[in-house]
Amino acid sequence: MKPYPDSSRTAHAAGPLCTCPARSGRVLAAALLSVALAVPLSSATAWAQAGAAPVTRAAPDAGIVDEDTDTPYVPTPADVVERMLHLAGVGKADYLIDIGSGDGRIVLTAVTKFGARGHGIEIDPRLIERSRLAAKKLGISDRAQFLTQDLFESDFSKATVISVYLLPKVMQLLTPKLAALRPGTRIVSHDYAMLPEWQPDMTLRMFVPDKPVGRDRHSTLLLWTVPAPVAGRWTFDLPAAQGGGRVEIAVSQSYQMLTGKATLNGQPLDLAGLRIDGERLRFALEPSGRAERFRHEFDGVVKGDGVAGTATFNARSAATTAKWEARVAR
Ligand SMILES: C[S@@+](CC[C@H](N)C(=O)[O-])C[C@H]1O[C@@H](n2cnc3c(N)ncnc32)[C@H](O)[C@@H]1O
Repeated sequence: MKPYPDSSRTAHAAGPLCTCPARSGRVLAAALLSVALAVPLSSATAWAQAGAAPVTRAAPDAGIVDEDTDTPYVPTPADVVERMLHLAGVGKADYLIDIGSGDGRIVLTAVTKFGARGHGIEIDPRLIERSRLAAKKLGISDRAQFLTQDLFESDFSKATVISVYLLPKVMQLLTPKLAALRPGTRIVSHDYAMLPEWQPDMTLRMFVPDKPVGRDRHSTLLLWTVPAPVAGRWTFDLPAAQGGGRVEIAVSQSYQMLTGKATLNGQPLDLAGLRIDGERLRFALEPSGRAERFRHEFDGVVKGDGVAGTATFNARSAATTAKWEARVAR
């Protein structure tokens, strides 16, 4: 199956539309080589081998092109689009932004098959025109919009889900901006990772017989959830029924990776299962020695400098649950 049967201006054996003046293979090869360390070789070479021509990013007055950030138009095959949206758990409550939306297929699918709303941003006005026409034909123009914008100057704050199929260098440049989105925002990427410091929460590899680029006919899907910032010193009091006392937990954070140390009235406690999933903070406290036996489990939603949720106190054979709140000093 041709991924893009109506393409008349293709410079690509497998079909994708070239949306820009063709540029030398040397330029694209250089761009891909410069990031080869950060991507699977098969993927990096795939686009180069496919000869897909990049959309140029020229400074308006000087005609300067940033060669590392020219992402060519290569459409994501339909079955991969669906898997990406499933992986991100897209549903009716979601607002999806596809960054570099091509012919709009990811936004259109999110709206028609997953009940979401959203918009695509795309630098090529011809692809925007095509996307808007498709939305109109489907009768979903009110829920699927397309904006001619440069992704480096766009606002993504409205999104609950972001989708991307962009070159590794662009992903790396975008990493800080994406990590600063509202906690809980999911980001799903086709083939390419963020900066190595922000590892995906989930990775999935799938066979894609109609993939327009690459030799091995596989795609890698990656998912991240923006974590709430939780680094700092958290404090709260244990209920009197649990013996009372002040708990302090010092948390260090690198994206979703947390480490911490806990004390009860200044005495060390074991801190287990400390994790952040979007806004959801969880951990358990256990006695450091074996003299006493308990396991207190905490599960709450982080809002600003506070967390609120439930605590389950497991002591001897009984378990009780109570409301729980804590504050952080950063
Ligand atoms: C690999 S295609 C992905 C298209 C679509 N998201 C999909 O997965 O089918 C990348 C798209 O990003 C667009 N693009 C490249 N640089 C851009 C920029 N600076 N701002 C906005 N879009 C850009 C390209 O025109 C191209 O359509």
